[in-house]
Amino acid sequence: MRPSRETLLHILAEAQLAPSVHNVQPARWRLNDDGLLLLGDTRRTIPIADPSGRDWRLSLGAQLEGFAIAAARHEVRLAGVTPVAAAAIGRDGLEAIARVGLDSGGGETVPPQTVSGRATWRGDFAEIDTAANEAVTRLSSLRRDCVVVASRPAISAIARLFDTASMHFLRQTDHRAELLHWMRLSRRHPSYATDGLNAEAMAMAPLEAWAARLVLGPLFRTLDSIGLAALLTSEAGKTRSAAAIVLFHRPDLEDAFETGRHFYRAWLDIERAGLKACPMSVLADWDVSRTQLLRDHAIPAGRRIIGVFRVGVPKGSPVIRRFRLPVESLLV
Ligand SMILES: Cc1cc2nc3c(=O)[nH]c(=O)nc-3n(C[C@H](O)[C@H](O)[C@H](O)COP(=O)(O)O)c2cc1C
Repeated sequence: MRPSRETLLHILAEAQLAPSVHNVQPARWRLNDDGLLLLGDTRRTIPIADPSGRDWRLSLGAQLEGFAIAAARHEVRLAGVTPVAAAAIGRDGLEAIARVGLDSGGGETVPPQTVSGRATWRGDFAEIDTAANEAVTRLSSLRRDCVVVASRPAISAIARLFDTASMHFLRQTDHRAELLHWMRLSRRHPSYATDGLNAEAMAMAPLEAWAARLVLGPLFRTLDSIGLAALLTSEAGKTRSAAAIVLFHRPDLEDAFETGRHFYRAWLDIERAGLKACPMSVLADWDVSRTQLLRDHAIPAGRRIIGVFRVGVPKGSPVIRRFRLPVESLLV
């Protein structure tokens, strides 16, 4: 079947709420006679933090899952997803990722409020009460690919490990430069509301955002030499405020594109359980921290930790906003 452009835009508007690394939003879509072609924009990568492109492919898989969930609401279902192997990159920088067949008919979907409610929460979490503990218990029974760590000493240990892993990467100049490139620390940034990580999404007050540019930029080395960089970038307090830490693990050899579909579902399950999440990817990216977590939390052999989330109930009553590209720009 061939959905109308209008239906497709409705589906994409929901699909684009899926998470992507640094909010780079690499997915593009092309409608053709056989269905849809999912493409990845190779100009929207983070080669320093993600040299193998794993998180980029994972982000594409997450958007495909978002597409499947949204399509079911519009009586459209996926009739097969065929990954495209080693496609050439076009002059427009787009690489074919998968052919997606479409058929009419709905299917199992996810409540719209779960999709629209899921967002990265980078602020503090509220004090842990019975409701938060019940949500953690609910989450523990939802997925076999998630280990839910709720012991306070274990969470404190992960908070320390996360700060160490963050500093490992922040000490690399090119890593900080790439991060700053995708940060939108001032409202005057032309892409403030459309992509990357803006001050609001990072739960930073204007003064904090102004200081972050200096701390991650020209002042970093000096601050690090006197031990202040680690203190200023520490997220240990936020991590310790979490009701739990979720270790998301998948088969070692799974393609990141497939992993992305499960990653999004896992995050929607966290939302469904009544919790907000913040990924702490450096823990999965650094072999030292990843190996330690595998050992400390008895992750089964043959599995790889793909993501680590701190989860809880946000402190206060934050208004959560999402920052995305115009939906029309996804259809190429
Ligand atoms: C593979 C992957 C890794 C991510 N890692 C981090 C991370 O380490 N820290 C963080 O704050 N957000 C991380 N995120 C969350 C994205 O920045 C977020 O999804 C994006 O900014 C869109 O915002 P939203 O989740 O609120 O819709 C990650 C997302 C993905 C898909």
